[in-house]
Amino acid sequence: MALRLGDTVPNFTQDSSEGTIDFYDWAGDSWVVLFSHPADFTPVCTTELGMVAKLKPEFDQRNAKVIALSVDTAESHKGWIGDINETQSTTLNYPILADPDRKVSDLYDMIHPNANNTLTVRSVFIVDPQKKLRLTFTYPASTGRNFDEILRVLDSLQLTDGYSVATPANWEDGGDCVVVPSIPTDKAREKFPKGVTEIKPYLRMTPQPNK
Ligand code: BEZ
Repeated sequence: MALRLGDTVPNFTQDSSEGTIDFYDWAGDSWVVLFSHPADFTPVCTTELGMVAKLKPEFDQRNAKVIALSVDTAESHKGWIGDINETQSTTLNYPILADPDRKVSDLYDMIHPNANNTLTVRSVFIVDPQKKLRLTFTYPASTGRNFDEILRVLDSLQLTDGYSVATPANWEDGGDCVVVPSIPTDKAREKFPKGVTEIKPYLRMTPQPNK
């Protein structure tokens, strides 16, 4: 069965461009962004992996490790990394899992046979330090992902884990937040000293509490 939000993600040991990885050991106490791509030496994937290398400092700031995966071999990944660095003006700074036996792809349901029987789709999994799945999404092979959106979700998850707020549509770090419905407005006014605006009894906004 496919993984669902809140599930503990399965551990695995698999080869990578940086040698053998035990996923739980490698993740340690960090958040993890695990993302699959269809194949090495393909154009959209080349831009995606280069973009993630450029954004690595942003993931580091959020205590998040990134790791890619495709059904190609570690040798193939190592050859392709040269092309990524050359064409995307970057230095790849995170591992790419090698999954020719589909061990991880099957565990995480990254092959969608009615889209493509042999290649992984563009899956993303955000895993928290307790190894719980906190976000998953899947893009088709023809659409490169927006990795700024993944950073935005990490910001939202880390904020909403610590405060009784949720984040509204198109929220970005620093923007006003929604007070969670379980808190009555009088209690919310005590909890959020920056102020609470009641637009409707169920729609209360407050400035981002940790800014
Ligand atoms: C790409 O990365 O460009 C790609 C990979 C598989 C199918 C289509 C595009």
